[in-house]
Amino acid sequence: MAKQMRSLLSSCLLSVTVSIVLLHIPSRVHSVTLKSDVEALQALMQAVDPVSIVRYSYLHSWDFAFDPCEAAGLFQGIVCTFPTDNSANRIMAIDLDPAGYDGFLTASIGNLTELTSLRISKNNFRGPIPETIANLQKLTRLSLTQNLFTGRIPQGIINLKHLQILDLSQNHLSSKIPADITTLRSLVQLSLSNNALSGRIPDLSALWQLSTLDLSSNNLDGIVPNLPMNLRKLSLSHNVLSGHVSPVSVLQHLTVLDLSDNRFSGLIRQEILTLPLVERLNISNNQFTEMEPLPYPREGLQLRVLDAHANRLHGHLPISLVNIANLSSIDLSHNHFSGRIPLEYGAKLGSSWKSLLLEDNFLIGNLPPQFINGTVAVRANLAHNCLRCPPNIRFCRGGQRANSECDGQQDHST
Ligand SMILES: *[C@@H]1O[C@H](CO)[C@@H](O)[C@H](O)[C@H]1NC(C)=O
Ligand SMILES: *[C@@H]1O[C@H](CO)[C@@H](O)[C@H](O)[C@H]1NC(C)=O
Ligand SMILES: *[C@@H]1O[C@H](CO)[C@@H](O)[C@H](O)[C@H]1NC(C)=O
Ligand SMILES: *[C@@H]1O[C@H](CO)[C@@H](O)[C@H](O)[C@H]1NC(C)=O
Repeated sequence: MAKQMRSLLSSCLLSVTVSIVLLHIPSRVHSVTLKSDVEALQALMQAVDPVSIVRYSYLHSWDFAFDPCEAAGLFQGIVCTFPTDNSANRIMAIDLDPAGYDGFLTASIGNLTELTSLRISKNNFRGPIPETIANLQKLTRLSLTQNLFTGRIPQGIINLKHLQILDLSQNHLSSKIPADITTLRSLVQLSLSNNALSGRIPDLSALWQLSTLDLSSNNLDGIVPNLPMNLRKLSLSHNVLSGHVSPVSVLQHLTVLDLSDNRFSGLIRQEILTLPLVERLNISNNQFTEMEPLPYPREGLQLRVLDAHANRLHGHLPISLVNIANLSSIDLSHNHFSGRIPLEYGAKLGSSWKSLLLEDNFLIGNLPPQFINGTVAVRANLAHNCLRCPPNIRFCRGGQRANSECDGQQDHST
């Protein structure tokens, strides 16, 4: 009953809205939007393949027989300024729907000088990002993510001093990140991931308001530069970065840190493992050789997931991981660890550790008792080591390493 009432009510509202729209449209004839803004919108639409402008999409509603800022129901996806003096209306925001528009962003976009927001994400815009974008000095938000843009990031982007969000991710942009990007002091979010950017990452420490930095899945090389102190989220994964990761260890506000799939090497400092707010730390697929021990228990840490698989970590398994109170998922597989599995790991496996992956190392000896008689459900993998496992232990399966790899390390005590 109540449901019927509601749907009746909403269909009434719908018909009222529709009739207002229908009444309103024909009344608009004279243009109040600045002429050059109208021309720029026309140019924008003309650069889109009409076949890709499907029914009910925003661009389908653009009808230049009417004034863009005055025609209710038409020109979806634009927002206008309505100046109180008698000056013309201007286009303030373009926020297109992800309808699959196939086209180019032409130079005339630079004539819309009152734009504060330009978002055309999830379409098939291709070709270069026009240099005239540098004229859009009032932009606070530029999102071109998930398109097919090619070429370099326009140098003029550094003129957009009010930019807070710059998202050019998931395109085919190449060449370097402009070094002067560091002059964009208002930036809060910078996403350039999933492109073909190369060269070094410029020093970004001056971007003191930056909270999110995503440069993952590019071809960036060189070392990690100085980074802004207020960063909350940092992803540098899937690049060819090398050297130490010490610039990251001072970023005390980080909650997300992904350094996986690079060529980082050397020691994983305890400062990285003990960043206070990081819940998931992914340092897998690198060339780290050592993990610094944590000398005493750390209570206040948020770290739950540590993924360090596929590195060159050697020596004994780090006992001090048991000092990280909230840790529950640990992946140290595909490394060069040797020696026995610490008894301390057994104690954790019975309590807080829910997932422990140690396969493909050079571990020897017997398993701690909790591995054999554990009562809690855990995910574990110990395959491809040199362990002596009882035949009924499922997570030892996968066979031993070739005998020669275990020779000389085999533990003879029982
Ligand atoms: C944009 O502005 C330039 C310079 O004022 C002008 O030559 C050009 O015709 C304009 N383009 C559009 C599409 O309005
Ligand atoms: C860590 O990153 C790798 C990619 O480099 C990915 O395959 C893996 O799933 C990530 N681990 C976690 C725990 O998210
Ligand atoms: C551990 O995790 C819980 C929730 O999962 C959280 O409330 C707590 O703050 C975390 N920190 C410590 C010190 O264990
Ligand atoms: C595991 O449990 C079985 C019986 O349930 C017992 O015979 C065996 O001694 C236990 N092994 C260890 C290592 O605690």
